[in-house]
Amino acid sequence: MGVGTWSWGNRFLFDYDTSQDESIYEAYREVRNAGVTLFDTADSYGTLDLNGRAEILLGTFERRTNDNYQPQQVATKIAPYPWRITPNSVVRSAEGSLRRLEQQKLSVAQLHWSTANYQPFQERALWEGICDVYDEGLCEAVGVSNYGPKQLFAVSEKFREREVPLAVAQVQYSLMTYNANTNSGNGKDMNEACDDVNCRLISYSPLCLGLLTGKYTLKETNRLPTSPARQQLFKELLPGAHGLLDTLEVVAKEYGKSQSQIAINWCMRKGTVPIPGSRNLTQARENLGATGWSLRPDAVRELESAASKVTKPMVQNVFQTE
Ligand SMILES: NC(=O)c1ccc[n+]([C@@H]2O[C@H](COP(=O)([O-])OP(=O)(O)OC[C@H]3O[C@@H](n4cnc5c(N)ncnc54)[C@H](OP(=O)(O)O)[C@@H]3O)[C@@H](O)[C@H]2O)c1
Repeated sequence: MGVGTWSWGNRFLFDYDTSQDESIYEAYREVRNAGVTLFDTADSYGTLDLNGRAEILLGTFERRTNDNYQPQQVATKIAPYPWRITPNSVVRSAEGSLRRLEQQKLSVAQLHWSTANYQPFQERALWEGICDVYDEGLCEAVGVSNYGPKQLFAVSEKFREREVPLAVAQVQYSLMTYNANTNSGNGKDMNEACDDVNCRLISYSPLCLGLLTGKYTLKETNRLPTSPARQQLFKELLPGAHGLLDTLEVVAKEYGKSQSQIAINWCMRKGTVPIPGSRNLTQARENLGATGWSLRPDAVRELESAASKVTKPMVQNVFQTE
């Protein structure tokens, strides 16, 4: 489950404020008690007055739920800010994350995005830096985020050279990004690239920020999120997604599941590890219900046929590379 509802971007998108912490904790406790161990976060989730808040909360929440047998695994993401231009600055950021989490070692230290598209000279320092994080014993393994197949192959060469284990790569991946994820245009898609370099593919925003849950609509009642940013986004996306949402509804009824559960299970059927954001107990329970069963091939085909016809897909992350 992703724990990342505290970034500036997400405050902007999700209307987060600190009064929600207790209900987020309830969601956290629920998924922990259900056996979930892996939590994705980032040092950039929580800026300005809420600097580092996601990591602080994740550490605090874990100390409050002290009856777990399986240790919490934190996969944090280090932001390639323009001032992080030396390997040492990457190591210092990992140390900062560990201080906020009040932990000794990260499970996975991930580079949040690649700078290849706008500041390629920074990339080498970031790659050496994340390898140094591993060598200094601050993480069990490393990962990358928003890297496409080409950049993934390039960075995995570096990791191989430095004998650093690459555990995960994460990209935006949902039924609303189906065409982008399957047609990379240069031969391999991310699933194949991850297989080639032997890492797991994490699908982030598997519910397309809530759009695939089916609770938002422009039909009749005009139900939209309260935040102006998500409202605007959904107004643009929903008209082209009706076919997909209708299909999700039909499949959900057939399986006796919710649309969210179908959308998350589809990500799992694609061999990815989905990290849905759950902001309260009800959502956490529902999203946990996406596990323990499997969509049949005919339903997968039906969903993908509808997904391939979405006329306005979810926008790509601005930092996504080839
Ligand atoms: N690497 C990156 O650059 C990157 C970028 C984005 C996200 N991520 C990671 O991916 C995680 C998840 O992505 P995300 O939060 O952006 O999008 P998401 O998982 O697609 O959507 C999460 C949102 O959908 C709604 N929701 C979730 N479960 C629901 C349910 N069962 N019923 C109804 N509504 C439900 C909630 O918002 P409402 O209730 O307000 O509708 C929730 O905040 C993040 O926490 C973060 O760790 C990584």
